Amino acid sequence: MAVLDGGVMVGKTKMLARELLSASVIQDRVKSLAAEIATVYLQKGELHTITVLNGSLHFSSALRLAIAEKQPALGESMTSDTIHLASYHGTGSSGRVRKISDLNHPITGKHVLVLEDIIDTGKTLSVLVAELRIQQPASLAVASLLRKPEKLMVDKSELSEEIFVGFDIGPEFVIGYGLDYDGLYRDLSAIYALSPMTK
Ligand code: XMP
Ligand code: MG
Repeated sequence: MAVLDGGVMVGKTKMLARELLSASVIQDRVKSLAAEIATVYLQKGELHTITVLNGSLHFSSALRLAIAEKQPALGESMTSDTIHLASYHGTGSSGRVRKISDLNHPITGKHVLVLEDIIDTGKTLSVLVAELRIQQPASLAVASLLRKPEKLMVDKSELSEEIFVGFDIGPEFVIGYGLDYDGLYRDLSAIYALSPMTK
């Protein structure tokens, strides 16, 4: 039996988990995204990443290794930091962003790339970007593994100067590759979309 064939319990409701992006499709896209990003930041001469925990843990790790492998000269000077935000409860956006832990390094004058797991309504990212802009980085861009264009609720200008996106997906709730449902399923290597089970 394949992983999650029996469905996933979301509260008291059993949901169907459909594989949306396989592990190899994700790995290939992370590599091509890394090549795109490496070219841009090689020209800028440096790269400072900010990993938004917890969701982008796997994406960030795979992407940064691939960037450094693609462009060793850039890899030697790359720096990184993390910020831990929480904005989601269950499968619905709370609209409020809570900071659980902050950055450890100033970003003034740096070429900053924020690494996110998913842009859903965009509220989390817009709050973070507004806060980061105050420090006046040399440039501020975002790389998000996933984006849900149909659910975007903020203006694109609020989401940094440049956005690198792995995959545009539909509005369903997704789990796997860092994305969780109440702390579960983060360590699945594929991404699954949840939908109600039809009887
Ligand atoms: P917003 O709506 O602010 O949401 O763009 C961003 C944060 O909410 C989480 N999120 C999800 N987590 N499956 C998840 O496991 C999803 O489908 C999903 N949609 C949003 C995520 O932490 C993201 O950073
Ligand atoms: Mg997140």
